[in-house]
Amino acid sequence: MEHHLPKKGIFNASVLQNKNLGDKFYRITLELEKNGKSVFSSAVPGQFVEIDVSRLALPAENLIPPQYSDAAKRNIILRRPFSFADIVCSEDSVIVEILYTVLGPATMRMKTLKSGDTISLIGPLGNGFSISENKKTAILVAGGMGAPPLVHLSGLMKSQCKDMEIIVFVGAKSISELAFFDLKIDKLIKTKVKLGEFEKHNIKTHISTDDGSAGLKGFVTDMLKNWLIQNKPDAKDTVIYACGPEAMLRASAAVSTEFKIRCQVSLERRMACGTGLCQSCAVKCLNKEDGSNFYKLCCKDGPVFWSDEVVWE
Ligand SMILES: Cc1cc2nc3c(=O)[nH]c(=O)nc-3n(C[C@H](O)[C@H](O)[C@H](O)COP(=O)(O)OP(=O)(O)OC[C@H]3O[C@@H](n4cnc5c(N)ncnc54)[C@H](O)[C@@H]3O)c2cc1C
Ligand code: FES
Repeated sequence: MEHHLPKKGIFNASVLQNKNLGDKFYRITLELEKNGKSVFSSAVPGQFVEIDVSRLALPAENLIPPQYSDAAKRNIILRRPFSFADIVCSEDSVIVEILYTVLGPATMRMKTLKSGDTISLIGPLGNGFSISENKKTAILVAGGMGAPPLVHLSGLMKSQCKDMEIIVFVGAKSISELAFFDLKIDKLIKTKVKLGEFEKHNIKTHISTDDGSAGLKGFVTDMLKNWLIQNKPDAKDTVIYACGPEAMLRASAAVSTEFKIRCQVSLERRMACGTGLCQSCAVKCLNKEDGSNFYKLCCKDGPVFWSDEVVWE
């Protein structure tokens, strides 16, 4: 009899490392074995996990930044969603890398995790990016904390699509928010910032910040537009993948329409269940046949959507 493995599930993962990258970014390395290994080995960039943080300890009082001291006291009942920054399969296990930023009570608890701890996760959830292997150019646009799934995507495309040109644009409000750039180590060369997470795959990154503290001054989508005007890639051989704040995704969708280049966006919604039950993560979509609107669920139908199926408000 043929046994079909479930596509997702609830698994325990061992923490191998939880490393601080700069002021507020962390890279957590998780290992899954047995059934978790089988299920996660086929996870794709853009999919995500829901992590249970309800039983994690808070950092010591003096290590809680004052702006979080009230939030820190809240109980964390709901799991929190995180994308993959990488997935590496070996014979006995799967290693899942997550890059996260400390924003509130859950992520503050996550930073106390250490090697040897175990956490519960549900996944892999949602639908990720679809890699169009026949395209000549893939343009990745990351804003703020949107970088992790694009780091994963760029690594996979670099190994799978040998002839594809991969161009990465990364934007943030300022250098201190530039995803996974270690200000302490790299501040001396801040006019020539290199983002190690992409450069390790030998992919050149174009960087912009709203205040000009690193890379070009301005929005990442303006940098994208200028690049398209100067380089004129063939629209039908090109695809854009974008992840970041909603305003940046809306601007990426507008560039996609203007240059007639297809674009996939990874959307963020507050997620309660992550599995399509609570209906808290609705995304307004367009029915192209009759122009009417309907709703999809970010956790189940997304988080990755084609930019022209989303109604941008
Ligand atoms: C599909 C998906 C993938 C994600 N991947 C990553 C990742 O790879 N790395 C990472 O650092 N974070 C990621 N996030 C965001 C992450 O889930 C939140 O940062 C985390 O839940 C914050 O929890 P908290 O209790 O620490 O802070 P909270 O107190 O819950 O939030 C802190 C602040 O962030 C805002 N916020 C939190 N979650 C969201 C959200 N989903 N959408 C919009 N605003 C939000 C809140 O409004 C609040 O202002 C992802 C979210 C989604 C939906
Ligand atoms: S988070 Fe519950 S339906 Fe999407």
